[in-house]
Amino acid sequence: MKKNIILCGFMGCGKSTVGALLAKKTGMAFIDLDSYIEKKQGMTVSDIFEKYGEPRFREFEREAARELSQKNSMVIAAGGGTLTFQENVDTLRTSGKIILLDLPLDTVAKRLENDTTRPLLNRPDKLEAMKALFEKRLPIYKSAADIIVNGDESPMQVCMEIMSQI
Ligand code: S3P
Repeated sequence: MKKNIILCGFMGCGKSTVGALLAKKTGMAFIDLDSYIEKKQGMTVSDIFEKYGEPRFREFEREAARELSQKNSMVIAAGGGTLTFQENVDTLRTSGKIILLDLPLDTVAKRLENDTTRPLLNRPDKLEAMKALFEKRLPIYKSAADIIVNGDESPMQVCMEIMSQI
């Protein structure tokens, strides 16, 4: 069965918001991969990064991708880094279609301006770090995606575009 929908894209691109709406519209269940990790580990992503470091977080993420890929008919919001690892792309692709919410760096920067929940961006040179990561990741996201939609629209519009393409 499976046929999941996996939402991919940079931090702040709307994976969780669009995912929850898409699930509602399609009658599928929604799961956010970061929330899944947080529940399982009993701590926030920020605390995991702080206490154990990024490599350990990536292990939890890999494990979560494996577990969620066993589920059926789910909308899965991946983390911003999840699908930059080929192993996770391979794992999640066995369970459904990967959709990239593509949007310009400017929009991302605006949305994340006051955000403090992304440990990779919690640094004095936030904007430069964001730009470097964004440019490095965009081609990786694009090659991981089965479908690319314009994420620079309202959640409802993005949701409608996804529904018309799947
Ligand atoms: C990360 C993105 C975050 C979260 C973690 C690492 C990344 O998810 O998984 O902070 O590497 O881009 P969101 O994209 O949901 O913010």
